[in-house]
Amino acid sequence: MHELHLHYCTFSAVWAKIANIVEPTTFGSLAEVYDRCDSCHDDTPLGNLSLLLNRAYTQLVGQPSSQKEGAIRVIPFDPDNSYLVQKMEDSPGIVGGSMAYGGPTYVQRVRAWIAQGALNN
Ligand code: HEC
Repeated sequence: MHELHLHYCTFSAVWAKIANIVEPTTFGSLAEVYDRCDSCHDDTPLGNLSLLLNRAYTQLVGQPSSQKEGAIRVIPFDPDNSYLVQKMEDSPGIVGGSMAYGGPTYVQRVRAWIAQGALNN
């Protein structure tokens, strides 16, 4: 009985991981993330980046950073090299301050959206 229970736990943990990876993350579902940002990234945006939901997509995908030369804010399918993610994770090499306002859960959702192609959905 004990052993069975253990197996069940391991299985559901693995399943939760798989489900998390394949679960689609739309751009629209990130509104809650950008709510934590648009007090500064608004119509007169700091860092020349507006994260108001009706503007954020065109400001992010394929757009160069205003602060770091050569950096691209969002590179579809490539979360690691997307400057948005690097700022949210306070990675070494960023210019300016950390943007880790939402915490790890929020970054994971942004990563998932980019990994799925950074669609305007
Ligand atoms: C308290 C104000 C404030 C908040 C809140 C804030 N930011 Fe920023 N952000 C700034 C300032 C100032 C800059 C420009 C200087 C810098 O790059 O650090 C900036 C720059 C950035 C940049 C770099 C833009 C570029 O083109 O190089 C990104 C990406 C960014 N913020 C993302 C976010 C995200 C995502 C959030 C919410 C999770 C957020 N910020 C919340 C003030 C803020």
